[in-house]
Amino acid sequence: MYDLGIIGAGPAGYVAAERAAAKGLSVVLFDKRELGGVCLNEGCIPTKTLLYTAKLYENALNGKKYGIVAENVSFDFGKIMARKNKIVRKLVGGIGAKMKKFGVEVVKGAASMEKRNTDGTIDIHCSEKTFTCKNVLVCTGSEAFIPPVPGLDKAEILTNREILELKELPKTLTIIGGGVIGVEFANFFCALGTKVTVIEMLPEILPGIDKDLSEMLRKDLEKRDITFNLSAKVTKVEGQTVTFEKDGKEHQVQHEKLLVSVGRRAVTHGFGLDKMGVEVLKTGIKIDSTCRTNIPNIYAAGDVTGFSLLAHTASREGEVVVNNLTGRKDRMRYSAIPAVVYTNPEVSCVGLTEEAAKAKGIEYNIRNLPMAYAGRWLAENEGGSGFMKILTGKKHNEILGVHAIGNPSSEFIYGAAMAIELELRLQDMEEVVFPHPTVSEIFKETVFAFQE
Ligand code: NAI
Repeated sequence: MYDLGIIGAGPAGYVAAERAAAKGLSVVLFDKRELGGVCLNEGCIPTKTLLYTAKLYENALNGKKYGIVAENVSFDFGKIMARKNKIVRKLVGGIGAKMKKFGVEVVKGAASMEKRNTDGTIDIHCSEKTFTCKNVLVCTGSEAFIPPVPGLDKAEILTNREILELKELPKTLTIIGGGVIGVEFANFFCALGTKVTVIEMLPEILPGIDKDLSEMLRKDLEKRDITFNLSAKVTKVEGQTVTFEKDGKEHQVQHEKLLVSVGRRAVTHGFGLDKMGVEVLKTGIKIDSTCRTNIPNIYAAGDVTGFSLLAHTASREGEVVVNNLTGRKDRMRYSAIPAVVYTNPEVSCVGLTEEAAKAKGIEYNIRNLPMAYAGRWLAENEGGSGFMKILTGKKHNEILGVHAIGNPSSEFIYGAAMAIELELRLQDMEEVVFPHPTVSEIFKETVFAFQE
């Protein structure tokens, strides 16, 4: 008998397993694939490894701006991909070692909740064995959604999984969907010389991100020769040709490879949710603020809940489950979850956007400052562009949202998340000392800009 059975070993599952075992619970963790889930094996980690290479390569090509003369700069695509695989393997191995250290039993195979026993415990079948668990945490994640576009079912397409296995750099790449996945891959392949075309059905890329930031990023990427077709509807895919409608006209674009990145869907079938009577909404498993489903000893965390498809949300949800199981009252709050797009330049956001504040009828003040106000940014981003935008409540000056485009904003956006989480006001932020010279000082500068 186990205190906790966890189905899915992504950032929700493996973090929950580690935390629960560290607190003395007996834990069994199931996964049919490698430890680490989509994030580690075919998402966050491999893509960030590739994007770092792209940034290094672009910097080498543009070294002149910094007084560096590097000639005949080139790359080896095979080595780039091999390094990505090495990093993934190392981190997967690291999770395995952690599970061992904390005494988590890891079972490889497809797990399924088969029976609820009279004492409320749940029998999970996996690899021809039965594991009886007092509590179950479901974190089966999400999978790429393939839209019902005529011809797409017969076409040779890539999702985030297959594109990471390419052996050769494609000459041309068409991307359907200008969200986070589409834009990050567009940046990587374009940096290496692939001609990239993005087809996005909305009027701007990156839904959910502050419009001024997504526009600036798009224009920056356009300068580097990515073609964005916005407000465009894909009508047909045939062979190596995508047909789309834009401004009432039909257009066609040819590709060597085609990436489909129009969103992801929760994985809710094939492991017994129906047998257990767990309520599943259209978007994913329904949970309360403690990540509990309608069945008291079944919890869900991560992408399977369908509303915040981010690894760090998943891990925190897993921690909330463990805290409540081990006697510490805890609940999920979603107002201060940072989001980062790891393009060059990075886009980092937390809290309310202007669009969301307006939609909610929240009265706010706002300030924008160019990144160049931080000396360190200027020193390290020759010819670059970027800015920070802060939203505060009109009445109490509390920080509501912080949005930045510029490198390396992903490394300091957590400071803004803390400010929102702790409900800090401008006057509180003014008393915080920032290290000088750092790019993070743009946060402090923008806070002081409210005094002007
Ligand atoms: P997404 O929801 O971010 O973007 C999908 C885009 O496709 C949207 O802009 C949408 O308007 C567009 N679209 C939908 N149907 C279309 C159609 N038929 N034709 C043209 N465009 C269409 O989804 P994406 O990029 O697939 O990413 C999935 C999830 O993975 C996201 O929710 C994201 O949070 C997560 N993710 C996060 C990353 C990060 O935090 N850096 C990196 C990669 C993924």
